[in-house]
Amino acid sequence: MVGSGAREHALAWALAKSADVVVTPGNVGIAAHGIECVDAPATELEADLFVIGPEQPLVEGLADRLRAQGKVVVGPGADGAVLEGSKAFMKQFLAGAGVPTAAFGTFRDEAGALAFLDTMSPPYVIKTDGLAAGKGVLVTNDRDEAARDVRDKLQGRSFGSAGTTVVIEEGLDGEECSLLVLCDGTHVTALVPAQDFKRVGDGDEGANTGGMGAYAPMETMTPALVAAVMESIVAPTVRELKVRGIDFRGVLYAGVMLTSKGPKLLEYNVRFGDPETEVLVPLYGSGLFDLLRAVGEGRLDRATAVAKGAAVTVVLASHGYPQGSRKGDVIDGLGPDGQLEEPLEGVTVFHAGTARDPRGRFVTNGGRVLAVTGVGQTLSEARARAYAGASLVDFEGRVMRHDIALGAIRGDQ
Ligand code: AMP
Ligand code: GLY
Repeated sequence: MVGSGAREHALAWALAKSADVVVTPGNVGIAAHGIECVDAPATELEADLFVIGPEQPLVEGLADRLRAQGKVVVGPGADGAVLEGSKAFMKQFLAGAGVPTAAFGTFRDEAGALAFLDTMSPPYVIKTDGLAAGKGVLVTNDRDEAARDVRDKLQGRSFGSAGTTVVIEEGLDGEECSLLVLCDGTHVTALVPAQDFKRVGDGDEGANTGGMGAYAPMETMTPALVAAVMESIVAPTVRELKVRGIDFRGVLYAGVMLTSKGPKLLEYNVRFGDPETEVLVPLYGSGLFDLLRAVGEGRLDRATAVAKGAAVTVVLASHGYPQGSRKGDVIDGLGPDGQLEEPLEGVTVFHAGTARDPRGRFVTNGGRVLAVTGVGQTLSEARARAYAGASLVDFEGRVMRHDIALGAIRGDQ
């Protein structure tokens, strides 16, 4: 397992139910949980299956290097990872494949971008072309703020060279769904639909983040809607990948907006979502290893995915997130294994940005610090457990949302 966040912790923990797992580089919470973490590059390790968590190494071709060594890998090569690595590329690809998505323009020059902005109506959507850890997107009704954002991005002020091409999009309205689709190059299997909460504040207020919580299954995303997305979005994508000679083995994560005119694709990610993974993997029990091996080996048609129950995860972020983050705040409520000091049934704590201080205590060490997942037979039970768990973990400046999965339980979406 390659990576060092809560997503990798969740994947490693789930895979460890049926395999010996080594994580590189991992983090202190994964190690405390009894899963081996090593600092060696993945290309120097031996394993039956390599699972690459984050987008950056995928975009940089780690899967290609491992496959060149004859390894079985979950994660696309650089040719497939560019779907996430460049939003401008992705939008062109979608247009070619006939996938429904927001109207858009791609710009490197200010005058062209600002003129296009004037042809759009609010909300204005401005995106950085390159990787920006979920933070390169501005959605605003304020034309001046949009123009300022275009200038800051084009001049490299906000995201350096990753930002100097911008994509300006039509604003879409509706519920969002994360549909993570396993793809072995030919066959596809959708995992249960999940919902991620991207804004930092309750009621979807405030800045976009990497994700403040999630739940699954998302019931408003009915089997009929999943089938519609598979047919109108995923199938043409897989066809286009084939046409381009891209052997995509990994996770095709469709960020979908359920608009009044049907599902439209907001974006593709080429990996497991974070924090979606923290609610998805617990539902598949010990079946995950076989499923992922089938992805890597190109025989997904002979694997079955069985999900049971529901899960909710609540992210605890550090002081100042997402504009900044603070390191070194002591985390109360965790035992030596990095789990709840007072264990609760159905609750697991996944570590993202944690470290240990000289006295061995867990401290904050990044933006998103922990993801507390509750599982249950129903979403209400899962939610109650996740929040009961989260309330037992505290540190100064803790940022968290209180309304993860609340709308879904109330049925008001
Ligand atoms: P992305 O990284 O492209 O998924 O964008 C991050 C978030 O910005 C999405 O999850 C949406 O909440 C929002 N967003 C992106 N594109 C649009 C759009 N065209 N219309 C409305 N909201 C959007
Ligand atoms: N949950 C959003 C992402 O993984 O990009």
